[in-house]
Formats: sequence, C-alpha cells, structure tokens
Amino acid sequence: MINALLIIAAYLLGSLSSAIIVCRLMGLPDPRTQGSNNPGATNVLRLGGKRAAAITLLGDSLKGFLPVLAAKLIGVPPLVLAAVAMAAFLGHLYPLFFRFQGGKGVATALGVQFGIHWQIGGLVALIWLLMAKGLNISSLAALVSMALAPLVVWLIWPVPALIGMQIVMSLILFWRHRSNIRNLLAGSEGKIKQ
Ligand code: G3P
Repeated sequence: MINALLIIAAYLLGSLSSAIIVCRLMGLPDPRTQGSNNPGATNVLRLGGKRAAAITLLGDSLKGFLPVLAAKLIGVPPLVLAAVAMAAFLGHLYPLFFRFQGGKGVATALGVQFGIHWQIGGLVALIWLLMAKGLNISSLAALVSMALAPLVVWLIWPVPALIGMQIVMSLILFWRHRSNIRNLLAGSEGKIKQ
C-alpha cells in the first residue's frame, strides 16, 4: 500500500511543471508556446533569464529528488525505488495538471539520480556541466550525460533494477530530444550563451 502511495505521490509531484508555474508567477510568456516550446529550465533561461531558469531547475530537480529520497528512507526494495523514480520522471514529461504537455526530463532525471545516490547525481551533473561549458549547447550536454548515466549507476550502485530504470529513462530522454537531435545534425541547435 505504502509503495503504491509513494509511486502515485511521485507522479503527482512530477506533474507540477516548474517552468510553467515560474513563468506564470514571474509574468513571463508560456514556455510551451515560446522559444523551443519546451517547459524546461533551458527555455525559461531564453524567456526570462538566469534567476527564473535557476528556480525552474531547482524545482524540477527537487520533484525527482524528494520522492526518491523518501522511498529510500522508508527502505523500499530497489524495484520500488526504480518505480518511484520513473513515476516522478513521467509526471514531468506527461503532467496531469498541464494537459500532459511536459518537459524533456533532464532536471528531474538529475534530481532522481541525486536521490538514488549523491555520487550518481554528482557524477552525471559534473558530466553535464563539463559538456555545457565545453560545447555551449544545453541539449548536447544533456544527451551526453544521460547516455553515460546507466554506466554511472553501474559504477556507483550496480543494482539491475536501477541500471534498467536508468537505461529506460535515458532512452525516453533521447526520444524527447528528437527535435534537438535533428537540429544538432543540421548544425542549427541554439547555444546556451549566444
Ligand atoms: O532540458 C532540455 C534541454 O536539453 C533542451 O531544451 O529548450 O533547448 O529544447 P530546449
């Protein structure tokens, strides 16, 4: 019973789109209809600057981090932990409260990874940061770090349910970034700093 409640709570928390809420509260345009049309921190950076983007990033990460941390503290088995993580992630992608029009999942995936093990989140975040600094393209940094994330999970906490969950999460992330991948291949993907 507690496991089912945790999974439902994670999905509902994941459904709170930080980008849409932050843009509404700060009087910014709807991120679903401007810029890349993606309700995520990168698009909020385009539309409203660093402060709005940082709040979005924090909010989207926390909604992955908190339910996973709660599940861990309760001591659920790895399979349930993986289900809670995936529920928060899918809530972000397909939010109940915003007509199922969610983001691409990078910040929530990072929060989930920090919740599972701080070293997993730390390493994936470090890869993202190095890539973002070196390449100056948010989506490419996300794709590289999430492609390596299953390997990071395997290195830090090699539990089949968690490695499997991360593989599925990374594959979904790639699917959600298909327009970015098309732009990257065409050389037209936008930079973080113009
Ligand atoms: O997290 C999403 C990011 O990787 C790309 O966002 O707005 O450039 O499509 P965006």
